[in-house]
Amino acid sequence: MSWWTTHVTPRLVEVGSTSDAMLAYRRRVCAGLTGRVVELGFGGGANLEALPPEVTSIVAIEPSDVAWQLSEKRRTRSAVPVERGGLDGQRLDLPDESADSALSTLTLCTIPDAEAALREVVRVLRPGGALHFFEHGLAPDADVERWQHRLEPMQMRLFDGCHLTRRIDQLVEGSGLAIDTIERAYAPSLGVMRPWLYAYLGRAVRPA
Ligand SMILES: C[S@@+](CC[C@H](N)C(=O)[O-])C[C@H]1O[C@@H](n2cnc3c(N)ncnc32)[C@H](O)[C@@H]1O
Repeated sequence: MSWWTTHVTPRLVEVGSTSDAMLAYRRRVCAGLTGRVVELGFGGGANLEALPPEVTSIVAIEPSDVAWQLSEKRRTRSAVPVERGGLDGQRLDLPDESADSALSTLTLCTIPDAEAALREVVRVLRPGGALHFFEHGLAPDADVERWQHRLEPMQMRLFDGCHLTRRIDQLVEGSGLAIDTIERAYAPSLGVMRPWLYAYLGRAVRPA
């Protein structure tokens, strides 16, 4: 991992993803989470303040030690206990059917093998448990999509392998989870930001 990826990227993510608008999205994606929640790409822990009271614990999967340190204040303040349950969403060191819910925000873009991570989510979720996701990905408009493909190599270099062109809905459906709610829309911003802001917000259930 480069110095930039190790030290700068987690801090840029922290600055860029903690606005009031982002907190509103976090509250929406976290609504309905229950019990023991596995969170892929815990980052700086920005979802902690958006958790509903039905969440009893968080199993944080996070490879970056810098992000984990940045999350310390939030973990200390949180009413919900957080354990660092692993470093890689692609290989979860957790028993089958051991989680009630799973959460992924702005992370399926970055995990190198997102299919493998989703297979792991399916494995560790109990039947009837749900993955809640809020992710950015491929836009439906040809002109935006062209820019996403052009910008992706730079994006990946600056942001730890973050892709702009993943079809999040297809990835989730392909894992065997059944999507029961999904919204696809650009987050409000300047038009020039559209390649980064096509969002998929939804919930997908592990069939019983
Ligand atoms: C853009 S950040 C999002 C952080 C947080 N989820 C949020 O919403 O603010 C992407 C996160 O995914 C983490 N990540 C990268 N590769 C990963 C992997 N293989 N497994 C789990 N998390 C990973 C990064 O370290 C980073 O914290």
